[in-house]
Amino acid sequence: MLDLNHIRAQFPILKTKMSGKPLIYFDNAATTLKPQSVINDVTRILSSQSVNIHRGDYQLSYDISNEYEEARVSVAKFINADVNEIVFTSGATEGLNAIAYGLEHHLNEGDVILTTHTDHASNLLPWIEVAKRRKAKIEYFKLTEEGRIDLSKLDQALHSKVKFITLVHVSNVLGFINPVEDIIKMAHQRNMVVILDGAQSVAHIKMDVKALDVDFLAWSGHKMCSPTGVGVLYGKKEWLEQLKSIKLGGGSNAQFNEQGEVILKSVPTRFEAGTPAIESTIALKSALQFLDSVGMHHIHEHEVILKNHFLSKIQDFKHITVYNPSTDTGIVIFNVEGIFAQDAAAYLSSHGIAVRAGNHCAKLIHHVIGVTETLRASFYVYNTIDEVDHLVEVLRDITLEKCVDLYI
Ligand code: ALA
Repeated sequence: MLDLNHIRAQFPILKTKMSGKPLIYFDNAATTLKPQSVINDVTRILSSQSVNIHRGDYQLSYDISNEYEEARVSVAKFINADVNEIVFTSGATEGLNAIAYGLEHHLNEGDVILTTHTDHASNLLPWIEVAKRRKAKIEYFKLTEEGRIDLSKLDQALHSKVKFITLVHVSNVLGFINPVEDIIKMAHQRNMVVILDGAQSVAHIKMDVKALDVDFLAWSGHKMCSPTGVGVLYGKKEWLEQLKSIKLGGGSNAQFNEQGEVILKSVPTRFEAGTPAIESTIALKSALQFLDSVGMHHIHEHEVILKNHFLSKIQDFKHITVYNPSTDTGIVIFNVEGIFAQDAAAYLSSHGIAVRAGNHCAKLIHHVIGVTETLRASFYVYNTIDEVDHLVEVLRDITLEKCVDLYI
């Protein structure tokens, strides 16, 4: 059991109100709340250490540069990687774009990129663009009726034209943990490269990139209690060295001349052109310390308890349809009969409850669940059973009339 009083006391935003009611935050798949230690880092750095890194020959800059590199060491430890395999980005979107465009030169006409209908736009759109440019093809894993990757069809899916497999580790809509161990194993037997979108996994389940043997992994800091503006691209050293940098500029090059000869720095520095989100990156280290202090195993367990409680409480509600009743994580998507998801979300907001409504940036998801818009409740480490019960009570009595009343 988690010490929820101790955990919640670290998140000052939980003392605030929304619509005049105590805030109940169930939009953790969109972004997570920030603990005081993270807030303190940002305040401290902006107040007294807001200088640039790796450029200044003065003590303040040495100190902040060291802290920045310590954050890289913490991230590497958190996922069991080597420190020079960690590239800081602005978020999962930049990381996934960097991988697709950076690997583009490996694609030939007719090559196949294998992905899923449950993937996020940030993983699909860069590959769709790259495939068009290289006359390559996108193919999708066959899914079971409920939307899981059909392992019985894996052998056919990984045919000889597949070069890259890029998929979401945990779906931000269905909450399923994809069977990436099996996929990676079979892919490597066939010399294929596997890229994971870890936006919804690294903050929720224990990640060990060496044990998993994944080639690339990208995720966002803000979905794991750090500020926005920082993310991580992990790549095996041999693959990072083959990745073309899509972002060039100060800090990434060792030398260039007017003849256009450019020598880039070694990895990972060559991918980090420009001034980064220094305070967010340093605060990511505190976010990881917070998650470690709770334990990733306990975090996942807690989310599953909340999700199971929610599903059991609403199972007899005839007016609610759940689209992912076997979700493996704290993500539940549902609709209320006769009420648009956005209207229902606005009604929940009037009760202090934050959920997301819509397609959740996974615009191919209707191929799987048959609808484009849903409500999504996503639970995290600081949520409580009482909060879930409050959501259940509001959903018990929700009607179209009550939702409409908000607008008159
Ligand atoms: N990708 C984020 C979500 O699922 C924003 O809400």
